[in-house]
Amino acid sequence: MSTRLLCISDYEQRAKSVLPKSIYDYYRSGANDQETLAENIAAFSRWKLYPRILRNVAEVDLCTSILGQRVSMPICAAATAMQCMAHADGELATVRACRSLGTGMMLSSWSTSSIEDVAEAGREALRWLQLYIYKDREVTKQLVRRAERMGYKAIFVTVDTPYLGNRFDDVRNRFKLPPQLRLKNFETDNLAFSSKEDFGDNSGFAVYVTKVIDASISWDDVKWLKGLTSLPIVAKGILRGDDAREAVKHGLDGILVSNHGARQLDGVPATIDALPEIVEAVEGKVEVFLDGGVRKGTDVLKALALGAKAVFVGRPIIWGLASQGEKGVQDVLEILKEEFRLAMALSGCQNVKVIDKTLVRKNPLALSKI
Ligand code: FNR
Ligand code: LAC
Repeated sequence: MSTRLLCISDYEQRAKSVLPKSIYDYYRSGANDQETLAENIAAFSRWKLYPRILRNVAEVDLCTSILGQRVSMPICAAATAMQCMAHADGELATVRACRSLGTGMMLSSWSTSSIEDVAEAGREALRWLQLYIYKDREVTKQLVRRAERMGYKAIFVTVDTPYLGNRFDDVRNRFKLPPQLRLKNFETDNLAFSSKEDFGDNSGFAVYVTKVIDASISWDDVKWLKGLTSLPIVAKGILRGDDAREAVKHGLDGILVSNHGARQLDGVPATIDALPEIVEAVEGKVEVFLDGGVRKGTDVLKALALGAKAVFVGRPIIWGLASQGEKGVQDVLEILKEEFRLAMALSGCQNVKVIDKTLVRKNPLALSKI
């Protein structure tokens, strides 16, 4: 085990070597031909940095705030489902690592550790709940109530998943949870995605989602959710300016520009390319965040330059978990933090407030190829 893990792709390679194939496939996959999966990464490379020089960067301050809560850096953990498949400590390891780094964790509704256990493991950690809207609204309501009770600071409602995207590997693998695991926020086998259930010859998870998640949700349900809780609500999965404006009109507190890690509709743009339109549309009225393909400190800098308040990382957390549990997640977050610090310093930024859009331009060569 002498190979040193120096960057996020080193962690992915390690995770691939230790995880059972069907589990690695589930975490890694994008939808259909995975065009957007490649694009989420490639698009960052098309934006070029234009650093400022001679700005005294002996001290660089990475701190910022998210929905009024202070974080040590604008890099947080995105909701990823079923983390106990990656490591026995799963979500508990993630929340502890986030607390160590002084950053926030978004817990999936579909976690393999409960809302309460994650809160216990990360009492002082900044935590948010990612929410899915179930056909049975009472199920969703209870998730919100439990998050409120346990000190979660916001709800990220996922708006891009009326059905699960089609991930070919999961279909081929007839993906389901290993028998010892369940979605811990739910009691009954059918809601807990128990492997005892029959999912036929398909991705078990896609079948689960079709059974329990409400494909009929609309802006009316956003109103319902607003009426249900006084926690801030962020719409997760917006890619268009008009939808972002609609979210603002409905009184939401933030927009997470996301294509769900390219796991839903294939053929949508990279999130970094969708970001400017949304930042422009909301006119600074709410905070805008981004996830999708963030793997390097320079990616974070580019996203902030284009107007994101913070970014979230999904798969990198999983690769850290699979490699070394809590320590692996901590290392992954520290790598991103140090890379971001260096990127800021080398582009003349003493703090996140001075990061502005003059720092990035679309590579003219990339534009001319279109
Ligand atoms: C996700 N994502 C996700 N989103 C969500 O709202 N609820 C969820 O339960 C999950 N689960 C999930 C599992 C796995 C394995 C992945 C890879 C992703 C999407 C996630 O929150 C985020 O949008 C993307 O992961 C960001 O892209 P990157 O960082 O993985 O490229
Ligand atoms: C996924 C679900 C959990 O992307 O959101 O697999």
